[in-house]
Amino acid sequence: MKEKMQHLLEEIEEKIQDIKDLKKLNEIRMQYLSKKGPIHELTARMKELDSESKKEFGKSLNHLKTKANQLFDSLKEKLETEQLNQKLENEKIDISLPATEIPMGAPNILEKLVEEIEELLMSMGYDVVDGPEIEQDKFNFEMLNIPKGHPARDAQDTFYIQDEEILLRSQTSPVQIRTMLEGKGEKPIRMICPGKTYRRDDDDATHSHQFMQIEGLLVDKNISLSDLKGTFDIIVKKLFGESCETRFRPSYYQFTEPSVETDISCFNCHGEGCHICKNTGWITVSGAGMVHPNVLRNCGYDPKEWSGFAFGFGAERLAMLKYGINDVRTFYTTDLRENKIFDRKDDD
Ligand code: DAH
Repeated sequence: MKEKMQHLLEEIEEKIQDIKDLKKLNEIRMQYLSKKGPIHELTARMKELDSESKKEFGKSLNHLKTKANQLFDSLKEKLETEQLNQKLENEKIDISLPATEIPMGAPNILEKLVEEIEELLMSMGYDVVDGPEIEQDKFNFEMLNIPKGHPARDAQDTFYIQDEEILLRSQTSPVQIRTMLEGKGEKPIRMICPGKTYRRDDDDATHSHQFMQIEGLLVDKNISLSDLKGTFDIIVKKLFGESCETRFRPSYYQFTEPSVETDISCFNCHGEGCHICKNTGWITVSGAGMVHPNVLRNCGYDPKEWSGFAFGFGAERLAMLKYGINDVRTFYTTDLRENKIFDRKDDD
């Protein structure tokens, strides 16, 4: 009987020595150690023995079982380790390989410029506000002192929606009205409003039916034109450098009185005369003025008590000057290369 046991053990050893597969190993294990297997069969033979031999036999049988289990277990462990190593090997990441380059975007040029002005004015206590692009005639024109039939409307012909009362705003100035109405004739106001504007125009290098303005409004007590000049000076020095000089020229807008055209000294030729300033040494960058008493009154502010100034920059014009862009369509053709070029220019 002992020999039989020894034989079984050797048989197992032989059978599993070339096994590389866990499933196969388990099959052999079942073959030998299950209830129908030869080892269990030996257990059944116990009852044929006397009690002394039974003891001896039991011991040997237990030994056999332990040994057989050990054989299976150690091979199982070996195969599992091998399998894991193989898996790790297959999934190995070579960190020395150069990474796939992810194309990085670049901030939109207009957006960048607007953010720069916003940050500056916010530091001076201004709120950045929004207004609707689909606007009422009342806000876009009438309350700004431009009644129906006024010739000033010709220069701001825009796109009408449904009827003549609803339009795509031709300027951001209606946001002045909306903000003052909210202030209810009581609150002082400092706001800027950057936003899209529209006009009926034939697109070319200097005209676009869609463009962007940056509106500013300050309403308080005892505000004068010199406050406007000082504020304007700070903005353009931030955008074009400390050496930038400013100049006001008389102008006409229906919603400001007096009205001015605001010029900066040419940053390119510093007054010598060049193609950018058309040999004048000066470049016009915005319209501005003191808020017209009629407009203050329309919005519930008593002009005897309150005064204010307003300005409106053309964002594309500022960006074209700052970045040396000579075609306004650059901003609307969504060519990423352009954003990248001007982004880099700024880091220089
Ligand atoms: N809204 C004017 C335009 O589109 C620009 C402008 C001029 C805005 C004078 C102002 C201002 O706030 O005071 O031509």
